Amino acid sequence: MLQSARRARLQGMDDKVVLACLLHDISVAGLLRSQHGHWGAQLVEPYVDPEVAWAIRQHEILRYFPDESVGYGYPEAYDDFFGIEYQPPAHTQAAFLAARKHRWYMSARIVTINDVYTFDPAEDVDFQEFEDIVGRHFRQPADGLGFDDSPVAHMWRTMIWPNNFL
Ligand SMILES: [Fe+2]
Repeated sequence: MLQSARRARLQGMDDKVVLACLLHDISVAGLLRSQHGHWGAQLVEPYVDPEVAWAIRQHEILRYFPDESVGYGYPEAYDDFFGIEYQPPAHTQAAFLAARKHRWYMSARIVTINDVYTFDPAEDVDFQEFEDIVGRHFRQPADGLGFDDSPVAHMWRTMIWPNNFL
């Protein structure tokens, strides 16, 4: 995610897109894998611009649909994972068609372009590089994430205390 955000910044993307790249897999890191775009978007939605949450929500789906206009091809790894004949489920195809017409489509697409496939183990990125962007574009609840009584506070508490019963 740090590398993804750095790449977006070096490409001259605006702060919202850089922040979307920085947060795009936050639910995978903290919670789960399935539907991770939706979970990740929900997790940050109360605190970021709607465009950021939208891009995070859609990036998971867009990964399965090439867009040669921006040089994004279907990931070869998916042929290995799912087989050559794989077609995403109908609800995903419908979601893609809707996303493609959306005014923020390219913000989500840029997240897919800068996703894990560009990962370079030798590249070290410090979070401080993005402290200013987070400070300006991620609303910090006074009581702290997980304790602000928001609809997603329980999700943050789950990440903070993954093994607690309460
Ligand atoms: Fe992702």
